[in-house]
Amino acid sequence: MKRTLGVCYYPEHWPEDIWAEDAARMVEAGLSWVRIGEFAWSRLEPSEGDYQFEWLDRAISVLGDAGLKIILGTPTATPPRWVTKKHPDMYAVDAEGRVLGFGSRRHYCFSHQGYLAECRKIVLKLAERYGSDQRIAAWQTDNEYGCHDTTISFSEAAKTGFQDWCAQRYQSPDALNRAWGNVFWSMEYADFSEIELPHLTVTEANPAHVMAFRRFTSDQVVLFNRAQTDILRAHSAAPLIHNYMGRVTEFDHFDVGADLDIASWDSYPMGFLMDRLDATHDHIAAYLQQGDPDFQAFHHDLYRAVGKGRWWIMEQQPGPVNWAPWNPSPLPGMARLWAWEAFAHGAETVCYFRWRQAPFAQEQMHAGLLRPDSVAAPGLAECAQVGREIETLPEVGTAKAKVALIYDYPSAWAWEVQPQGQDFDYFRLVFSCYRALRRAGLSVDVISSDAQLDGYKLVFAPGQFAMSDALKARLASLDGLVVVGPRSASKTDEFTIPVPLPPALPGLDITVSRVESLPPSAGLDVQGGGSVGHWLEDLEGSAPVLLALETGKPVMMGDGALRYLGGWPSTTLWDRIVTEACDELGIATERLTAGLRIRDTDTHRFVFNYSAMPLEYHGQTVEPAGVLWIALSET
Ligand code: GAL
Repeated sequence: MKRTLGVCYYPEHWPEDIWAEDAARMVEAGLSWVRIGEFAWSRLEPSEGDYQFEWLDRAISVLGDAGLKIILGTPTATPPRWVTKKHPDMYAVDAEGRVLGFGSRRHYCFSHQGYLAECRKIVLKLAERYGSDQRIAAWQTDNEYGCHDTTISFSEAAKTGFQDWCAQRYQSPDALNRAWGNVFWSMEYADFSEIELPHLTVTEANPAHVMAFRRFTSDQVVLFNRAQTDILRAHSAAPLIHNYMGRVTEFDHFDVGADLDIASWDSYPMGFLMDRLDATHDHIAAYLQQGDPDFQAFHHDLYRAVGKGRWWIMEQQPGPVNWAPWNPSPLPGMARLWAWEAFAHGAETVCYFRWRQAPFAQEQMHAGLLRPDSVAAPGLAECAQVGREIETLPEVGTAKAKVALIYDYPSAWAWEVQPQGQDFDYFRLVFSCYRALRRAGLSVDVISSDAQLDGYKLVFAPGQFAMSDALKARLASLDGLVVVGPRSASKTDEFTIPVPLPPALPGLDITVSRVESLPPSAGLDVQGGGSVGHWLEDLEGSAPVLLALETGKPVMMGDGALRYLGGWPSTTLWDRIVTEACDELGIATERLTAGLRIRDTDTHRFVFNYSAMPLEYHGQTVEPAGVLWIALSET
């Protein structure tokens, strides 16, 4: 497939007489897509019912005439002032009960029916006007669901919605009381209307209550998005896309993705290194101008699954951003490397954010491909280089990996609801496994817990809080090797401890009889190398012991094909688990130098140097921020 480049553009920010020159320069830089419109509601409908689409018509003409394909965003992430005045209770409310009001963006609660009706109206207007316009080659719904912690809302609208959701799920208050265990502390309800949202309680709320609220919250995002996709589909055949984010777990992206054609995400590697990775000072120092070598790749692999194979980068960092604690400049070459890395993981399109740096408002310190004075910023030349390279590289397709890693959003909620040890974080656990797979030079498919496993040789399912019998059976029948745990299958869907005790894997006599969490300073050595920390389980049963602490206490048990891991492995232990499993299966691994990462497509091996110094790969030098592609036949 031919890869393409694009850019995010805000015609409403610039005088109309520079649009044509902007468009021509975009084409000259090798861009073929332009995303517009996603924050423009106050210009599209300045007051209720006063629709002003003529300027957008002209922008579409100018961009389309230049040969650019347009992604039109629905503007629902930024309701204008008149909408919020009309619906003064439409704002989200945080856990402390504070209203998150007007003056920035994403100032709405997903559950507010009045706001939803306003969204339907503006989306319908756009769909009617542009749905059959061939220049609109894709649609983006809203912008970054979940950004600025706006998914979970404790508003009145959310409360009513949650009560309805509970009534539908449980059918009777008795059934809900039983499912949640409300006899404990006399928390029983006589009517669904008595149920409060789980915040501002004296001490912790019932975890089953919180988990139900988290499921409801996620469903509200799905419904909000679906309200738009239903309208757009009725009027347009162009693909529907949403732009997701890095390490956002508050809603189930697989559920939202089911209503869309393409998943995209917004990749800001250096911002993420600073504020989303719990990175040590040394790690930040090593990757300050590059970003973490695995964080982008993880999300590429995740969103490939969310998009059912079709995924994009909708926003790619082009230079310093404005929102991280510190905002350094990328190493020369990184704006090119990040794009190639996305392509190697199967991205169809990479769009840079944004065309020209805005000299006004919140993001005036955020780089674009152009400076505020329209002179090229350093990112533009790198973008143009990728544009030229796309023309020369043979078309590459995405290969199915041999190794899969299950990622499950409800598990992220579950361990937030009940961490049991304060640093037990689901994303961190899964990502530690992913990193080990990448250090071993493996290409990985991140998959949902509903995915079919055919074709995979090695599957990991860490931290998956509830596991259906169907999933257990699929894992147990894999023709390969499966590592389940730690803490997997340890709850029912309703957040109770299952009996028989976990993990209850088919054909394996292993019982987790007790668990303990450990502070970061406590690492327990494992025989043969490595250690466990954060989390350790007492494993009983007759299954063979595959790994044990120095004290003899079992850490991993199982048979040739299905294994249960009862602790959170250190880096060294993950490396052992991965390489030993691959050795058994005959999957080739190689220990990569820190900063070097590889990814195989169906025809090529891509090599990326995330470090700040030249590194060797199989006799070839890869410069800092360098990218190599080697035909697989030559590796
Ligand atoms: C994204 C967002 C953009 C812009 C960008 C800045 O989160 O979608 O609108 O704010 O960040 O890095």
